[in-house]
Amino acid sequence: MNEKMTVGIVGCGNISDIYLQNCQRFPELALLACADAEPARAEAKAAEFGIRALPVTELLADPAIEIVINLTPPAAHAAINLAALEAGKHVYTEKPLAISREEGRRTVELARARGLRIGSAPDTFLGAGLQTCRQLLDAGAIGVPVAATAFMAGHGPESWHPHPEFFYKRGAGPLFDVGPYYLTALISLLGPVARVTGAARISFPERRIASQPHAGELIQVETPTHVVGVLDFASGVVATLITSFDMWAARLPYFEIYGSEGTLSGPDPNTFGGPVQLWQSKSGWQEVPLVQGHAENSRGLGVAELARALRAGRPHRASGDLAYHVLDVMHAILEASAAGRHLMPESTCERPAPLGKDECSWTQINADER
Ligand SMILES: NC(=O)c1ccc[n+]([C@@H]2O[C@H](COP(=O)([O-])OP(=O)(O)OC[C@H]3O[C@@H](n4cnc5c(N)ncnc54)[C@H](O)[C@@H]3O)[C@@H](O)[C@H]2O)c1
Repeated sequence: MNEKMTVGIVGCGNISDIYLQNCQRFPELALLACADAEPARAEAKAAEFGIRALPVTELLADPAIEIVINLTPPAAHAAINLAALEAGKHVYTEKPLAISREEGRRTVELARARGLRIGSAPDTFLGAGLQTCRQLLDAGAIGVPVAATAFMAGHGPESWHPHPEFFYKRGAGPLFDVGPYYLTALISLLGPVARVTGAARISFPERRIASQPHAGELIQVETPTHVVGVLDFASGVVATLITSFDMWAARLPYFEIYGSEGTLSGPDPNTFGGPVQLWQSKSGWQEVPLVQGHAENSRGLGVAELARALRAGRPHRASGDLAYHVLDVMHAILEASAAGRHLMPESTCERPAPLGKDECSWTQINADER
């Protein structure tokens, strides 16, 4: 592929460095500019990465920019995504796609109506670890999948994130913040979810920040911080999901799929690499070498794949439909918990195709340049 697509980033906070760095490594992308509600943040990143800093409205209006990457906090996702689509840009947003279903639906529908692409993080399911799982599943290594588990146990980001407050507000919490990694991994491997139930609680109504610059300040918790979901997939697979900011330590696996002939133990779906382990009766547990691909922190891979898909006129994999289904399932888990019943998600989606061996390779850099 020789024609690059031009990119502007909105939101220059904690996660922006890895995108700024990786956008310059993918041959599909040409990073031009960045913007932030706090202009000094955009100016600092622009100077560091040799790009232009623009006010948000100017970046969205800039005819030179084809794809907007939205790295703002969840509460700002829908407004920026809709404004960028209105301005005629393709969009790739950090997760979740939006906070409410209504905003998520509007975003996907606007993109469709305008003939534009909406893509969404996570793109970790395109990494070498989860693509190895995909290859094993498709090859029948564990037979027919019957059950799965996905567990994210931790004690919240207020120990390390410089602005941790948003993690405890509507649209975040462990389910909306990290749930998308686990749910996207499950859905990309097992297909759509057909029925959901859940249980959720706020175990600690106040959290004290330990990280600078807000150390010592209290956060009022407004969203569940321990969430358990039980998911019936359309295929019949039954999965158990735990996402928690209320667990100091645990020995749960990150991600496993149990089949009629064996078990697949996958990597943390919040990463791009391994390890991937396979249990079969003839050989017991064995570590499986990863397929060729992105095993290090490759955030932005979904944007490069979207650019490549656009040029080729085919669907992109980290799609709005997939992200909307994930959003819908997350809401259904919390609603089922509140209602004390099972609920059916209103949406469905296609299982994205596996990533080809030669798709979206990037410029190698030395470890000491990172
Ligand atoms: N921090 C991580 O490790 C991490 C990892 C993966 C994904 N994410 C996701 O990335 C997104 C950003 O997270 P973060 O940790 O970088 O947050 P952050 O608070 O560090 O940075 C967000 C930036 O967006 C800016 N911003 C806020 N509202 C804006 C608006 N309306 N217009 C323009 N700029 C605006 C803020 O000034 C800030 O600089 C979130 O959706 C988060 O879920 C974060």
